[in-house]
Amino acid sequence: MTELKKPDEVALRPHYKAHYHFQFLSAAFRFGLFDILEKEPGTTLTGISERLGLQQQPTRILLLGCTATGLVRKEGDGYHNTPLTQPLGERPGHVPATYIPWETHGIYRAISWFYESLQENSNIGLQREIPGTAPTLYGRLAENPELESTFHTMMSAVTQLVAEDVATELDLSEYRHLLDVGGGAAMNAVHLAREWPDLEITIGDLPSIVPQANDRIAAQGLGHRVRAVSLDAFHDEFPVGHDAVFFAHFLEIWSSDRIRALLAKASRALPSGGGVFVVTPYQYDDETGPERSAYLSAYFHTIASGEGMVYTPKEYEQWFDEAGIEPAKPVQLGPDTVVIRGRKR
Ligand SMILES: C[S@@+](CC[C@H](N)C(=O)[O-])C[C@H]1O[C@@H](n2cnc3c(N)ncnc32)[C@H](O)[C@@H]1O
Repeated sequence: MTELKKPDEVALRPHYKAHYHFQFLSAAFRFGLFDILEKEPGTTLTGISERLGLQQQPTRILLLGCTATGLVRKEGDGYHNTPLTQPLGERPGHVPATYIPWETHGIYRAISWFYESLQENSNIGLQREIPGTAPTLYGRLAENPELESTFHTMMSAVTQLVAEDVATELDLSEYRHLLDVGGGAAMNAVHLAREWPDLEITIGDLPSIVPQANDRIAAQGLGHRVRAVSLDAFHDEFPVGHDAVFFAHFLEIWSSDRIRALLAKASRALPSGGGVFVVTPYQYDDETGPERSAYLSAYFHTIASGEGMVYTPKEYEQWFDEAGIEPAKPVQLGPDTVVIRGRKR
């Protein structure tokens, strides 16, 4: 066996010590350390231990972890946020702050079943770590309302990053009524409706999320054009009367067979010339990245569904073609998201 030399050990360290990095971040966030340092930069060890309600030694251990990994900076006796953690204190309802509760309560323990999930070709992480009986994450979220709220807060913040670009980059001027399948808490629908004032939108999602979506729609004064209704995309036919079907951050959760079935269902529900839009993270056609496509694929397999992954744009274009949808040139949004679009022939 080749013995690892020191530089190799150091280079590999971020991989085998990643869980410590996460614990420093997650614990400090849960204790509100970054908020404290946002409001009172330069607070000392004693001040921090009083505010966190912790003994001095545990506080020292937490601060050592945060300082050594660049989450906080020590200057004299005082502690400060760094550029990495400043946004966590400043913008709690946005990315990246919304990721931390979700990674802590939804993913961290469950993803440790990655090995077994690969072996069993099933989402063992969900089955072992998230209470309930439903076979997918979304069904289990309905059984765990607090976790469901954490998920949709994170998801809405993630979607907000691309929703404005989705609404402006897509030309929806010729469509009258769009069906947003798995539209979640209505973040995309609200942006699309604001950008396209003649467009009506129906969101179809599982029943537990419908009230939250309708609350957001009402709060934006869009109730006359946008509504959320209960729809199980696998068991129900899509309602007719729409001239465009929109799937955002949805198809990649599922296997290629299920995606083909969903695209065929969309095609059946549309008139000739109707539009199909798929907003999705993607992996490069040569299957070497990007990194986010790797994280998400592991998450879909181990937790969300046990069957999905992030696919290549080429695969979507082929599935469109098979479903009788003529693919157009994909629209790139940011570094790792794409909109695959087409028209029913
Ligand atoms: C990753 S979220 C995406 C939400 C939204 N489209 C967005 O871009 O923010 C996936 C959504 O699919 C919904 N979903 C899961 N299974 C579904 C099913 N069988 N039928 C309809 N919606 C489903 C979930 O409730 C959740 O809102």
